[in-house]
Amino acid sequence: MDRIRIVGGTALAGEIAIGGAKNAALPILTAALLSEQPLTLNNLPLVADIKAMTALLAELGVGVEAVGDDGRSVRLSGASAAETTAPYDIVRKMRASVLVLGPLLARFGKARVSLPGGCAIGTRPVDMHLAALQEMGARIELKEGYIDARVDGRLKGAHILFPNVTVGGTENIVMAASLADGETVIANAAREPEVTDLVKCLIGMGAKIDGIGTDTLRVTGVEALGEAEHDIIPDRIETGTYAVAAAITGGDVLLANARLANNEAVFRALGRAGAGITETPKGVRVERRNGRLTGVDLMTEPYPGFPTDMQAQFMALASIAEGASMITEQIFENRFMHVSELIRMGANINVHGASAIVRGVPRLSGAPVMATDLRASVSLVLAGLAAEGETLVNRVYHLDRGYERIEQKLAACGAKIDRVG
Ligand code: EPZ
Repeated sequence: MDRIRIVGGTALAGEIAIGGAKNAALPILTAALLSEQPLTLNNLPLVADIKAMTALLAELGVGVEAVGDDGRSVRLSGASAAETTAPYDIVRKMRASVLVLGPLLARFGKARVSLPGGCAIGTRPVDMHLAALQEMGARIELKEGYIDARVDGRLKGAHILFPNVTVGGTENIVMAASLADGETVIANAAREPEVTDLVKCLIGMGAKIDGIGTDTLRVTGVEALGEAEHDIIPDRIETGTYAVAAAITGGDVLLANARLANNEAVFRALGRAGAGITETPKGVRVERRNGRLTGVDLMTEPYPGFPTDMQAQFMALASIAEGASMITEQIFENRFMHVSELIRMGANINVHGASAIVRGVPRLSGAPVMATDLRASVSLVLAGLAAEGETLVNRVYHLDRGYERIEQKLAACGAKIDRVG
């Protein structure tokens, strides 16, 4: 099994191109199921999760045709979609598969989707997705490990109030509502830029949606959606991850295609930690001004708050910053798996419930480490870049799910990093 080997201590310098957002591309791919007309998507990231979602769509009968030769554009044809079951073997590997539920039910009146189990970062139920679909008239049974959803005729518009902010729940319901009969109001909707990107794509396909980017989406269902072409937004989490890489190594990196706009909480925290941040026409430049970074307190929150998907990376940074940082995880109940591995690299971290107190140490030392999810794994790569000596990050397949050619992007900026068998 592949591992990533890093010899730490080199300040990164150069340019890193930021790709399309995985978490925007995943729901947008499933939107192809809503229409009989083709949907062309550009700027897809070349990561394992996108390949897996494309394979799931192909299993459901969607025509998938590469456009151009860089692998980043695809033309999806929902006309041939016929299968309405998303099997356990696929859903258990990628929870985002549950995003086919809303589109399948809205277009075909039935869907059978394996109930995703728990995962490394928590139990992650989908109860809010199901309750909302029920309010729209779906009959839902849970049997043999599957969500069996049916509706006679079309789903009906409804007033949905999510008790908590849910990104995937908002995405499933906004897609379902696009083909429902009448108006659906989604209150306490997620405002993540990935949700907004999906809504823009749906509008391009002919959906009628007001309130884009706000916590109240009003969707007037239409009978059918049409053809569209859509460019996926740049990945704000990939951006934030490489921004931390620049700061943690005392480097100077231009994040090409990145924007400050979708990532304010992350760049503010980096600024408070002592990194210099400048937006240029080409992207965002991140450098460490001078001396040690300073610890920062932060709390994960729904957008526009600090993203849970950047919490582990910031903990790596806090590990070598001057002073203490209190990092509180409010979105997932079990997202501190990187803590014990960072401690093995010499970090001083104490976890109390949902908060971790990180007391910065002058330096970390390299070690063999592993993690059980994408962002925890990448936080260990970041720690390895700053550590003295060699770090071997095991279970690289987690990284490959969401980071495209990570070792090549970092090596191009001078990092001593490679993939070993
Ligand atoms: C999305 O997951 C992202 N995944 C996650 O990114 C991200 O961490 C998360 O949003 C929060 O920003 C994709 O976009 C594919 P939620 P999602 O529904 O939609 C609870 C990464 O590393 N909840 O907003 O599954 C849930 O357990 C990944 O790229 C319910 O209780 O997240 C969690 O505690 C990991 N019932 C909270 O709500 C429900 O029905 C927020 O989850 C739904 C969610």
